[in-house]
Amino acid sequence: MAALTFAHHILFSKPSVFLHSTKNGFNTFFSVSVPAPFLRRHKSTQTISASLLELGGVKISKEDVVKDEPTNNVPDLIFTKLGLQLHRRDNHPLGILKNTIYEYFDTNYNNQFHKFDDLCPIVTTKENFDDVLVPADHVSRSYNDTYYVDSETVLRCHTSAHQADLLRKGYTNFLVTGDVYRRDSIDSTHYPVFHQMEGVRVFSPNDWNDSGMDGTLYAAQDLKTCLEGLTRHLFGAVEMRWVDSYFPFTNPSFELEIYFQEKWLEVLGCGVMEQEILKRGGKTDNVAWAFGLGLERLAMVLFDIPDIRLFWSTDKRFTSQFTKGQLGIKFKPFSKYPPCYKDMSFWINDSFTENNLCEIVRGVAGDLAEEVQLIDNFTNKKGMTSHCYRITYRSMERSLTDEEINELQWNVREQVQSQMNIVLR
Ligand code: DAH
Repeated sequence: MAALTFAHHILFSKPSVFLHSTKNGFNTFFSVSVPAPFLRRHKSTQTISASLLELGGVKISKEDVVKDEPTNNVPDLIFTKLGLQLHRRDNHPLGILKNTIYEYFDTNYNNQFHKFDDLCPIVTTKENFDDVLVPADHVSRSYNDTYYVDSETVLRCHTSAHQADLLRKGYTNFLVTGDVYRRDSIDSTHYPVFHQMEGVRVFSPNDWNDSGMDGTLYAAQDLKTCLEGLTRHLFGAVEMRWVDSYFPFTNPSFELEIYFQEKWLEVLGCGVMEQEILKRGGKTDNVAWAFGLGLERLAMVLFDIPDIRLFWSTDKRFTSQFTKGQLGIKFKPFSKYPPCYKDMSFWINDSFTENNLCEIVRGVAGDLAEEVQLIDNFTNKKGMTSHCYRITYRSMERSLTDEEINELQWNVREQVQSQMNIVLR
């Protein structure tokens, strides 16, 4: 399997900086603070009959989420994913994984953990960022990285968005599973919608007083024991290591890695919750731990699923391979259809970003887009920068015709020119 580099998963492990290193090793300057106008235009012009969704008890229509306004950058395609809740299907790899994690917490903590998996993914910027202390200049707040419904409402980009609210409501042991949304690149491990699980456990002085440790040390130790146990529950007897990390919401912060298939694989991020978050939740004398894990990332290795798009497949040849309660059945690829590569070169402008390009490609090709890869990059004497991107088209369910691919590519080229104001070479 290709190296798992889940840039999206570790977005928050970056301190607050504007320079974001992409997987291609090129630095992208994220100074975009207002949405580029082109984001609007790849909406379909048809009026879609009022599709009313219910998300965590909230009734939502398409018009509530996809709006023709400059502060909105949610494309049609993303709207179609809302409410699918793959993590709530007991026969789906993500549901099987979620249930296996539940089982671990239920047995080891005597059913003390409250489980939420139906909270509405449309949250305020306060919930998504401020409440968990994400700095004002953090890349994750940009329109380039996050889907904004309006300037104060986003599609949650992590399940941490629910931490503060649940603490305020008085919960002290909880798990939150949900779909999360991020504008991102296109390859076998990146998809703009994926799933996370968040865990939080709050302690009172009574819990640590007799231990001879201070609250923070006690929580950190409890956290590590808990997550090492969880990892063994999922992966069996694997080699593990703790790596110091950074998250805005925890201090100290760690990542847990396992040695799996001859590589160190990041399993989750976690840490001792920043005191400020607890304080705002009305818990001044307490200490807590928190963790967040990406379900796709773990399911891909546990079930041998080679491409993240497969999680969305409704093809029986995929869905019929998984059974409730059976973690780790190995997926048998039903067929590998031929890929088709199309290259595209253009002079970039100041507002160019790879995420914007990928949004256009997904808008045109949907899940037929397998990868968008920068294969050439140079700056001429006049200071103009040229990029060449290779787009890989491949269906996981059938062979594509030349005609079909040419039409997709033609549409991508058209939209890139008109929406990104870019000159193709
Ligand atoms: N929210 C983080 C992310 O999406 C994951 C995470 C890390 C959650 C550490 C936590 C935590 O609760 O303590 O990248």
